[in-house]
Amino acid sequence: MERKVKPSDSPLSFEMFGIRFKNPVWTASGCFSYGLEVAENLYDISQLGAVVVKGLSFKPRQGNPPQRIAETPCGMLNSIGLQNPGVEYFVREILPKLREYDTVIIANVFGEDREEYVKVTEHLDRADGVSALELNVSCPNVKKGGIAFGSDPETLYSLVKSVKQATGKPVLVKLSPNVTNILDTATASVEGGADGLVLINTLLGMAIDVEKEQPIIGMKTGGLSGPAILPVAVRMVYQVYEKYGADVPIIGVGGISDHRDGLQHILAGAVALQIGTANFYDPYAPLKVIKGLEDHLKRKGYSHFLELVGKAHKLKIN
Ligand code: SIN
Repeated sequence: MERKVKPSDSPLSFEMFGIRFKNPVWTASGCFSYGLEVAENLYDISQLGAVVVKGLSFKPRQGNPPQRIAETPCGMLNSIGLQNPGVEYFVREILPKLREYDTVIIANVFGEDREEYVKVTEHLDRADGVSALELNVSCPNVKKGGIAFGSDPETLYSLVKSVKQATGKPVLVKLSPNVTNILDTATASVEGGADGLVLINTLLGMAIDVEKEQPIIGMKTGGLSGPAILPVAVRMVYQVYEKYGADVPIIGVGGISDHRDGLQHILAGAVALQIGTANFYDPYAPLKVIKGLEDHLKRKGYSHFLELVGKAHKLKIN
């Protein structure tokens, strides 16, 4: 069988779905906006393996009322509510600017119902410059769509199927950790036709202001991200890789602050990494992860990072 992920011309570059990624370090949806603020003010985003843009719905969304963000021990809660200008605006006004950079653009797709998911997908299918789609079935902060689609395997299976029928582009499904067994939703996605899985979105959490004696987040709950969720994400990547091995590419996201966190995801089975919350306190974090991975490969004598993918599974416990 042909390998789904193949090394390319440098220790960090690879090919997947017929797309060349210059490295496995991507920015996570919602944590890097559409990439342009960083590109115009801080650094050339062409250095990144890919940029995954903020979730796009068909109609623009205002998002949730404040307070939308709260700092927590080793992490943060967010409840943005998928604020975005709508897919048509994105394609017309933002994508042409983003396409000036030599990085892979992946669009995160959201809908309140199946029809909206399909409409957004069809629109992005026609958009030159968007290489792949990431299906958001895991946002915990919306009343309709998001996690409502991603927690029931049958609903998820049929949504992924509908979305796959609406596009020829690769579809990655971003899964929620807020389920009893991640293998149920991973399997439903793969059987529905997912080309790859993105693990994990945020964990549902709450923080309470003890002076005001009420939840800090306006919607009461929010999605927990940051270093606190690294072990949960690594465990879920490991579990899904254990079932599918190299047959289903896994993109690891959750708690990655530096290259050593990223290596945990890779050793568990991820072929690419998304850097999320770390961007909020250090927008250079993705570049540091790239450099750290390069140095690690040299120091350990590996010729390509793919040699490390899933390696933590090789240890047999007697
Ligand atoms: C949000 O916009 O509320 C977060 C998006 C997500 O968790 O997918």
